Amino acid sequence: MTVLPRADALVLFGATGDLARRKIFPALYHLAKAGRLDMPVVGVARSIDDDAKFRADVARSINDAIEDADATVIDRLCRRIHLICGDYADPATFATLAATLATAGTHDAVHYLAIPPAMFPVVIESLATAGLTERGRVVVEKPFGRDLASAQELNRIVAARVPEQRVFRIDHYLGKEAVEDLLVFRFANTFLEPIWNRNYVAGVQVTLAESIGVEGRGAFYDSVGALRDVVQNHLMQVVALLAMEPPVGPEARHLSDEKVKVFAAMSPIDPHQVVRGQYEGYCEEPGVGAGSTTETYVACRLAIESWRWAGVPFWVRAGKGLAASATEVVVVLRRPPAMLFDEMGPPGPAANLVRFRLGTDDGVTLTVNAKQPGPHLDSLPVDISVDFADALGTRQQAYERLIGDAIDGNQRRFGRQDLVEETWRIVQPVLDTPPPIHPYPRGSWGPAEAAALVDGQGWAVPEH
Ligand code: BG6
Repeated sequence: MTVLPRADALVLFGATGDLARRKIFPALYHLAKAGRLDMPVVGVARSIDDDAKFRADVARSINDAIEDADATVIDRLCRRIHLICGDYADPATFATLAATLATAGTHDAVHYLAIPPAMFPVVIESLATAGLTERGRVVVEKPFGRDLASAQELNRIVAARVPEQRVFRIDHYLGKEAVEDLLVFRFANTFLEPIWNRNYVAGVQVTLAESIGVEGRGAFYDSVGALRDVVQNHLMQVVALLAMEPPVGPEARHLSDEKVKVFAAMSPIDPHQVVRGQYEGYCEEPGVGAGSTTETYVACRLAIESWRWAGVPFWVRAGKGLAASATEVVVVLRRPPAMLFDEMGPPGPAANLVRFRLGTDDGVTLTVNAKQPGPHLDSLPVDISVDFADALGTRQQAYERLIGDAIDGNQRRFGRQDLVEETWRIVQPVLDTPPPIHPYPRGSWGPAEAAALVDGQGWAVPEH
C-alpha cells in the first residue's frame, strides 16, 4: 500500500465556525507546541476579511480553551496563518487558494472541510477544478450524509475527485484515547479474550449521556436528532471496537476490515426495538421548530449475528438533557451457576461487570464478588477501578490526534467509505419509520418506555 508523504500545508474551510473555535484552533496550538505544525496554515472563511482580527480571534479561542496557553506558541502559530476571504461557491476563492499555496511552495495540502455538509460537494468540485485534489488530501467532518442514499451519493462525488487513500472522514470518537483503549484493553490483556463472547457475556450496554441541551445548536440539531448525531457514527464505532475480531495488523485497512465484518453481521435496526424521546422544553429552544418531533434521546437494541455474538443484545442509548454526562460501556457477564455463596438467601452473587468509562475521568472498573464480612458464605459486589489520567497521565485531545494523523497521512483513526455506508444501512429503517416520540423531564434518565427495551435488566447507572 502506498504511504502518503507528510503534508506540507493545512487549509481550513470554515475558519470562523464554531468547530474551528472550540476544537480546531486549540488542537493546532497543541500541534504547534509539539513542533508538529511546521507548515503554512490557510484559513478560508466567508464572513471575515481582516487578517489581524482573524488572528486575534484565533488567539482568543486558544486562550479560552487552554488554561495557561504559552503566548509565544500562539504568536508563532498566528504568524503562520493566512486568511482567504471568499465564497465557497466562487471559483475565484479557489484560484486565490491555489496561488497562495503555490507561492508558499507547497504541494501536499490537507484541506479540512469544517463547513456545513451541504457545502461539501461544491467545495470538493472547486478544489478539483483549481487542481488542488491532484495531490492534496481532504478531511471531511461529520455528518457524512443524512441517510444511506445521501452518504452513497456523497461518497460517489468524493471518489470521482479524490482517491479513498486521501479522504479522511472524521469521527472524533475515533480520536479519543479512551475509545482506542477498547482495542488495547481487549487484545493486550489475555484474561479478557476467552470470555469475550456469547458463552460468557449476557449483554452489553453503551451509553452516551449528556446533561446539556442543544446549547445554541437548535437549528442544526433539529434537522438531525440523536440517532444521526451520535449513534450512526460515534456509538456504532464503539460497538465495532467492542465486538470485532483481533485485527491481523495495525494498519488502517486491518482495523477497517474487522469493523466492517461486525457491521455486516448486524441486521438493520427493527424500529420496534427503538425508543425515541424528547426533553421537555426542547421545542422552545432557539432554532427548533414548534411541534418538532426530532428525538433528543434514542435507545435501541442491536444484534450482531456472528459466531461470537449471536443472541447477545447490544443496547445503545444516547440523549441530551439527561441526569448526568457520561459515556460508558457496561459489559454484563453471565451469573455463576452455583448459589453456594448466598447462605443468607437470595439474591446470590451479582453478575460481573466490565465497565469502560470513555468520557472525562476515563478508565475501567471491574465489578467482582468477594466474601461478605461475617460468619456466613455470602458474597458482595466490589469494584476494582482504575482512573487512566491518574495512572497514566494526561493524554492528547481527539482533534489534535486526528489533525496530526491527517498531516502524517495515517488513516487509522478515520472512517472508510464502506464502514460509513454500513452504519447508515443499519439505522435506515428507523429513519424511514421513526417510532413515536416520548417526552421526558430534563435531568431524568430519558423516557420511562426505554426500560422495557433492556429485558427487565435495567439500564446501568453510569459511574461518572
Ligand atoms: C458531536 C455531536 O459529534 O458529539 C454533539 O454533534 C455531541 O451533539 C458530541 O455533544 C459529544 O462528543 P463528546 O466528545 O463531548 O462526547
